[in-house]
Amino acid sequence: MTKKYHIHTFGCQMNVHDSEKVAGILSEAGYGQADSMNDADVIVLNTCSIRDKAEQKFYSELGRLVTVKKDNPNLKIAVAGCIAQQRGEGLFKRFPYVDIIFGPDNINNFQTWIMNGKQDIGQVTKKAALDFNPEYHLKHLPVKRAGKLKAWVSIMYGCDNFCAYCVVPFTRGRERSRSGKDIFNEISALAGQGFREVTLLGQNVNSYGRNLPENMDFPDLLKMIHDIEGLKRIRFVTSHPRDLSEKLISTMKDLPKLCRHIHLPVQSGSDRILNLMNRGYCLEEYKYKTDMLKSAMPDIAITTDIITGFPGETEEDHQCTISTLADIGYDGIFAFKYSRRPGTKALDLPDHVDEKIKARRLSEILTIQEGITYSKNRLLEGKVFDVLVEGVSETDCDKLTGRTGSNKIVNFYGSQNDIGRSLDVKISEAKLHSLVGEKVGNMSCNYL
Ligand code: 5AD
Ligand code: SF4
Repeated sequence: MTKKYHIHTFGCQMNVHDSEKVAGILSEAGYGQADSMNDADVIVLNTCSIRDKAEQKFYSELGRLVTVKKDNPNLKIAVAGCIAQQRGEGLFKRFPYVDIIFGPDNINNFQTWIMNGKQDIGQVTKKAALDFNPEYHLKHLPVKRAGKLKAWVSIMYGCDNFCAYCVVPFTRGRERSRSGKDIFNEISALAGQGFREVTLLGQNVNSYGRNLPENMDFPDLLKMIHDIEGLKRIRFVTSHPRDLSEKLISTMKDLPKLCRHIHLPVQSGSDRILNLMNRGYCLEEYKYKTDMLKSAMPDIAITTDIITGFPGETEEDHQCTISTLADIGYDGIFAFKYSRRPGTKALDLPDHVDEKIKARRLSEILTIQEGITYSKNRLLEGKVFDVLVEGVSETDCDKLTGRTGSNKIVNFYGSQNDIGRSLDVKISEAKLHSLVGEKVGNMSCNYL
């Protein structure tokens, strides 16, 4: 009987893509996907430690697995991702029913264990792989992708920035870029299989190429993959404002497949806090760069991340962040309460902010941003956009759903045959989190 796996992913896109690699390894070893964790032979929890909340969610999920393991003593439980990396073998002590631990830089070790165990995870016991792997960017791991139209592609691993609040440099190690040739080959193969959109992944894509022997930077990489036949859209996350260059802006402007969207985390609107965060830019520089982006591409959507209640943040700093929302005119934001993370510099800063104040500031920011997002969406009413149709709408099964190049969700009536195609859609109504549209004319392009 085919053995089965179940993967539970916590956290960001990077983790979602890492889980696709774990699924790729298990599929290649002959495992099928379990319908639920109760009929799995192996359960992988791919964890996130960016904030304490994500970590607590993992512990409660792991707690639930005690009974699953009691019912099925042959079950193997693997803990992967950033908590595995940070908590290490201590997890075996605290949770004796955990069998396997590997960090985000060690997914290839998981593959080696399965292969050495003659493709049987049952042979693998109490294994941990937690050393950083300077050659991880050279590995070719199989990937089982969740979709057929849009794909994630890692272009670099790790981060060297050491923002004062962030665990990532400690859990994902130093920054390493994959070679342009490897990335090109992966995307060409994807385009050949029918994928139409790729999102290039890295903690700081703007510094892509820094460690490469060849003389190549991020805009050069974009130019190279732009020529891939069949590929329609290119996205990337995440950009660090300090490293966003004029060359990148003009490259985005010149390349039509580059989506008109940039996620540019500002984190705070106060220079004093940005300095304490070790972000390496001031608000004026950030504003200058977003102005350049807007004048090069007037239709560009800008989104951001914000942390409220970073240590030392005063009411005045908070007001600076609030005015930044309107100044930049974000299309959307992800905002979080500052969360203490082990090993980070911010832990030792004075004047940690009370949880209630953090929560109040977060709610003020979210409320103000809602008004801005809605008014930006209203400006789109009556306009026609190229929409890549992804599937049936989750909220209305009579409608289709897709995204504009600027990453706005559009729901509209259409037929099943439209899925996978790129259509001209006129926006009839703006909502807060999505747009309602109507198909106009024929499809602008048939990809299938
Ligand atoms: N507390 C709150 N938010 C955090 N982020 C990273 N570390 C923390 C933390 N300790 C946020 C940042 C980052 C996003 C991915 O998560 O805004 O851009
Ligand atoms: Fe964390 Fe800063 Fe690196 Fe982003 S750039 S992953 S916030 S350390």
